[in-house]
Formats: sequence, C-alpha cells, structure tokens
Amino acid sequence: MKKIFEFIQEELENAFEAAGYDRGLGKVTLSNRPDLCEYQCNGAMAGAKTYRKAPIMIANDVVEKLQESTCIQEAEAVAPGFINLKLDREFLAGYLNQMSEDAHLGFETAKEPKTIIVDYGGANVAKPLHVGHLRSAIIGESIKRIGKFAGHHVIGDVHLGDWGYQMGLVITELKKRKPELPYFDENFAGEYPEEAPFTIGELEEIYPTASAYAKEHEDYKEEALQATFLLQNGHRGYRAVWKHIMNVSVTDLKKNYGNLNVDFDLWKGEADAQEYIPDMVEYMKKEGYAHIDNGALVVDVKEETDTKEIPPCMILKSDGAALYDTTDLATLIEREKLYQPDEVIYVVDKRQELHFVQVFRCARKTKIVNEKTDLQFVGFGTMNGKDGKPFKTRDGGVMRLENLIREINEEMYKKITDNRTVSEEEARKTAQIVGLSAIKYGDLSNQASKDYVFDVDRFTSFEGNTGPYILYTIVRIKSILARYAEMEGSKTDVKLLSACSDSEKALMLEAAKFNSVIENTLEELAPHKICAYIYDLANTFNRFYHETKILAEEDNERQASFIALLTVTKKVLETCIDLLGFEAPERM
Ligand code: ARG
Repeated sequence: MKKIFEFIQEELENAFEAAGYDRGLGKVTLSNRPDLCEYQCNGAMAGAKTYRKAPIMIANDVVEKLQESTCIQEAEAVAPGFINLKLDREFLAGYLNQMSEDAHLGFETAKEPKTIIVDYGGANVAKPLHVGHLRSAIIGESIKRIGKFAGHHVIGDVHLGDWGYQMGLVITELKKRKPELPYFDENFAGEYPEEAPFTIGELEEIYPTASAYAKEHEDYKEEALQATFLLQNGHRGYRAVWKHIMNVSVTDLKKNYGNLNVDFDLWKGEADAQEYIPDMVEYMKKEGYAHIDNGALVVDVKEETDTKEIPPCMILKSDGAALYDTTDLATLIEREKLYQPDEVIYVVDKRQELHFVQVFRCARKTKIVNEKTDLQFVGFGTMNGKDGKPFKTRDGGVMRLENLIREINEEMYKKITDNRTVSEEEARKTAQIVGLSAIKYGDLSNQASKDYVFDVDRFTSFEGNTGPYILYTIVRIKSILARYAEMEGSKTDVKLLSACSDSEKALMLEAAKFNSVIENTLEELAPHKICAYIYDLANTFNRFYHETKILAEEDNERQASFIALLTVTKKVLETCIDLLGFEAPERM
C-alpha cells in the first residue's frame, strides 16, 4: 500500500504543476506544529528564487488548486510561504480500513527479497552468559524479525565463541580433577560416549576457577595454552572433551536464549570456520595480499582518506596461530559458500568497531566476498548501572543474565500482586511476559550505539516510556474488545467511519504511519524508531480512550467504527512488539 504521506505528496505535486510550477517542489513532511496542522509543504519557499515570486504568492496559487482534493480537507497558505495541511477524515478512515484488511497492515514486502545473515548473540561457550551479551541478543533478534517481516530471507547466526583459550582452560582443569577420564590421551580413539563427564553446573564453576588459577600460576597457564594449541591441531581426546563442552553449553544456551524469546536459525561458531583457514591463508599469500610483518602474517588495510591509523589485519601470529580477524574472515568465506548472502549484519559491542573495519576492508581487498555483498556493523553501547558504570551485581560482580531476568521478574510479580488478586500461577506467568517487555523495551528504546542506564525501577513502571506501559495499553484495548464482543447486538464485521473528534482523528493519523515507520526502521537498522512510534501511538490511544465513551456509545454505527479503530490500533501495536521481540499477556 502507498504510504499516507505519498498520497498527500502526490496531490501537492499535482497542485504545483497545475499552478505552473515544478512538481518537485511538492515535498511533504509531518508537521512540526501539530497544533496547527498535520502535514506541511515548504516548496513555495524553495521555489521563490527560481520563479522570482514571494513564497506566499506561490503558496496561494498551490492552495487554490487543492480545493478539490479528496485526501486534503484543509490547505492553508501561511506567511512567509508555508502550506499547512489537514487530511480529509473520510479519506483517512478509508486508508485505515484498507490497512486493516492487509496481512502486513499496508507495509509492502520486498519485491526482490535479499538473503541477509544477522550475526548476533555471540555467546562464548563455557563462560557464563552475562548482561554484555544481552544487548546483542535483543537488538539482533529485533533486526532479524524486521527483516523477515519485510519479506527478506533472513538467517540468524549465534556465532558462538567456541574455539578459544577458555576451552584449553576447561580441559586443563578437568584433567586435574578427573585424571581417570580417557580423553587426555592423545591417541584416544574410544567410542565417543553419550554422557558428558560434567554437568552444566560444574562447567559453570570450572571455567571461572581455572581462569582465576591460571592468572596466579604460570605453569598452569602454559598447560592451558598448550591444551588450546593441541585442541586446535587435532588432539582426538581433547576434541572429544570439546564436543562434550559444546553439547552441555549449547543446551543451556538454548534455554537461556529461549527465555529471552531469542531464537537462532544457525548455531554455528568460530570452530566451524577453522577448516577454511589453511586455504584462505595460502590464497592470501599467493595473490600477494598478505605479507610478513614482525613475524606475523598481515594484510594492510589502511586507506589514503583515513584520518586515524588503521592497523593491518592480522591473519596469523608469529607462532602460526589464527586470531579473531582470521576467524571472522574465514567465516565470511563459509557464509559466501553456503548462503551467498546479499548482506551480513554484525550486531556487536561498538568497542569492536575497529576489528570490523579491518575485517570488512580485508574481505573486500582480498575479494573473499562478492563485490556486491553489503557488510554492516551495528555497534551497540554499554549497559550501565545507575552509577553510570557497567552494570554489576549488588556486590560488584559481573551480573549473570539469568539473575538479572530473575530480579526483573520478581519486581514485576510484586507489582502485579500489589495491584490485584490473581492466582499465583497466572501472576508468575504474567510477570515473566511483562518482565521481558521491561528488559527488551528498556534496551531497544535507546539508539543502539548509545550507552544507557539499566534502571529496574523505571523499566518496570507501568507509566512512562516503558514496555509495561505499552503492554498495559494493549491489554486495555483487548479488554474493551472482549467486552464489546459480549454485548448484545455487537458486530463482527466493523468498518471505520470518518473521524468525529480530534482525539479520534489523531489516533487514526498515528496508526496510519505504520508502514512509513517500518520502512524507515529497516533502512536504518534502528529498532528504537519502532519504540518511539508505539509510545506515541499508545499515548494517542489513551487520550482518545479517556475522551470517548466507547462502550456506552448509543449510535451503533459510530460504536462499530470505534471498535474498528481499536482493532487496527491493537494490530499495529502487537505487530510492532513482535518485531521488537516480545508479546502481550491476556490480562495484567
Ligand atoms: N564472541 C564475541 C564476544 O563475546 C562476539 C562475536 C561477535 N561476532 C563476530 N562475528 N565476531 O566478544
């Protein structure tokens, strides 16, 4: 469906042309004086020089041509040459009726769907999932959903950190604790047993213990480094332990991400890229892209226009070991081979920006990605506590994701049971749903690149710009619709009529913006735009709700029109929160 402002713009373009001016002057924007008008056009000012006329004269000429318009109810030329516009109420109602019937609420899906890989989550296996991984999961999930909604073939990949030193540490610690296990023998060839030699609980304790111990004991650290090296070079027993670590961790990660309504199409990781490294290195050497610098193999990626120093991309360390750059490059080769993506979007902490600048440049220079493949970095800021420092537990430790979720849910549960009496079971379930909205909306409503303060009190509030407020609004609409459905003489096939009151028209105008907002959000990969939109929409709805007797309305047609307006508002809100990655409960 055409966007609502496109209808208006077309009218304006025609009017400019009919009055003898260039159509191109008919650009329309949302009004920046909503008290005076809904949309505005500043083309008369832009044309003044070309036509050597006072802008107000041009504006008057154009306004005259708009008198017959079916979508503009009121056009006014205002000094020095603004054209203020108000939409026709009937046209607006018709637009919303059409929107209601459309499966995508009037949003046009891509004519040529792209294959897009979203690289997000990025959890490190064997290490606990902490709040730093939260943002990647939340933002990436939303971007993935928006892309899918827009009709693209989107593949979400968790890209696990599963090939590093932490694996060597776990192996070393396990060897110390359970030397009787058969895996420490380099010639281990036994059957790979189903049962893992540790539980997730143990694994969670093993890593921090080993990591701390290694910091104090040089020989232990050496052993862990050696174990990492052997694992990466095909030690069969270590490889078997690695598989156990993966199985146990991934099961747990799936549960954790599941609690966040985050789900991945691919559970690949750094380890999957390893097989591509030897050929890649050979190729880069042979083609002359890579050279030795201080013993290391590097590819220069600096460009003449750089204003700051961009160090070379590191392909191999002097001891021959692969690095983070190497893995990301090899992963691109794998992705190119398996999926031929048109676009790869990385949702990663913005402190890793330089790494991605290097990797993207290197990938282009060495042509390991198709020339047309778009590589995008969506860098996000830090989640801080109220003290403005990175979010910690009360005693200053790193906050684990599970604990954070538990804390929020507890807070929500208290609020729900304070308000009214519901069964324990329902209260728990609702607390979980609303709690998730508090976390996700709290995060997504900020522009991703900015740091933000994670404020439990504010995020869980039912008032203000919060997830619970949005859900509360949806639940309110649901309850009115349910009560209407039970009323005698209620209709099921309802249509919007031309708006009567100002608050009703305002709600229609707001709901009608849906397709514009989604398009803009997708273009800029900026879910916060959806948050800003639904906050406005919820406010506009609540104003309408307070000024209108919906269920007591005596005119049946009018009432049915209110119901149709509520129905489409609810659909818009529900679609938007789904794109943000959460949902609304039935009651709260
Ligand atoms: N595992 C990494 C970390 O915790 C994030 C991975 C991001 N994705 C990537 N392709 N490098 O920092």
